[in-house]
Amino acid sequence: MSEKNRNDRLVVRGVDISPPIALAPMVGLSHSALRTLVQEEGGVGLLYTEMLAAKRLPHDNEHCSPLLIRSAGEKPLFYQLVAASDLYIRAATEKLHSLGAQGIDLNLGCPAPILKKQGAGASLAQDREQLTKVLRCLRKNTELPVSVKIRLGESVDVAHSREFCRFLQGEGVDLITIHARLNGEKFCRKPRWAVIGEIKDAVSVPIFANGGIFTVEDAQKCLELSCADGLMIGRGAGENPNLCAEIAQSVYGGSIGRKKSKTEIYFKFITLLEERFAPERQLGRLKQFTPYFAAPFPFGHHLAAAIQTSDSIEQARQRATDFFAENT
Ligand SMILES: Cc1cc2nc3c(=O)[nH]c(=O)nc-3n(C[C@H](O)[C@H](O)[C@H](O)COP(=O)(O)O)c2cc1C
Repeated sequence: MSEKNRNDRLVVRGVDISPPIALAPMVGLSHSALRTLVQEEGGVGLLYTEMLAAKRLPHDNEHCSPLLIRSAGEKPLFYQLVAASDLYIRAATEKLHSLGAQGIDLNLGCPAPILKKQGAGASLAQDREQLTKVLRCLRKNTELPVSVKIRLGESVDVAHSREFCRFLQGEGVDLITIHARLNGEKFCRKPRWAVIGEIKDAVSVPIFANGGIFTVEDAQKCLELSCADGLMIGRGAGENPNLCAEIAQSVYGGSIGRKKSKTEIYFKFITLLEERFAPERQLGRLKQFTPYFAAPFPFGHHLAAAIQTSDSIEQARQRATDFFAENT
């Protein structure tokens, strides 16, 4: 597909995803402040929460849980569930309806040992019986788009992946994001975008490609190899909150407004943390974000260390001011 005729608009069960670029679910990062920051920069057509335990979700208070705090402008927002069985899915779905979710995602890709032990994430993807129950329960209880996020599995097995995606589609899944790595592979390993290209035509639902997109060139290469209908960007958006806008402009022909400087973006993020979260939650989230944001700077580790050892948001702000004065 040439760059010019790439579809810049996708409608999934009535939800407009335009452009088809998503901000990935990331624990500790994909909260209201980062979502707003990235959305203000432009180029992001779909937002996700970090994974939310289906069991706990119905009891969480959306006014104070940092996982659920959300501003009105953050949409479309898909809430990502993590579950090991269908036991809590109905209650979780009801809660998400009450929160005004635009869609519900199921985490089928996280290989973390704690989820493996429970039979959730990538482990649920391997348990067809439980997974069928979970997907049927989801489909029965919501008219919202249901998406899933998967990895490529234990080994490259295109026939199996194609069959798996067909199964997901057959159970009513509306959108599949494929993180192009095997279950055991670390994030530093080169993603297998071309494998997505071998899977994609097995289904008619849209496929988003994820993993290792840090530049516009990465995005172009990924789309060329995967033929995906859209992209999901994770750490790249932490390193450069403007990345989705840059990709949207070059791949889908969107326009970028005035580009903020790195310094402006960082301080805007702090302000958003202060606006969204209780004081005791702000610094922790700044500490989680800063290593990603600082990575592209030649002396970024100095900024990351300075924020990591800060005792208050005021101190962090002052240290960041000093860093940017010396490094921009
Ligand atoms: C800090 C962190 C937290 C993550 N949390 C989640 C999560 O809650 N749910 C999920 O499906 N994937 C999670 N992931 C995986 C990302 O969504 C994404 O698949 C991965 O980072 C690869 O994409 P990237 O190279 O664009 O970052 C997480 C990744 C990171 C770095």
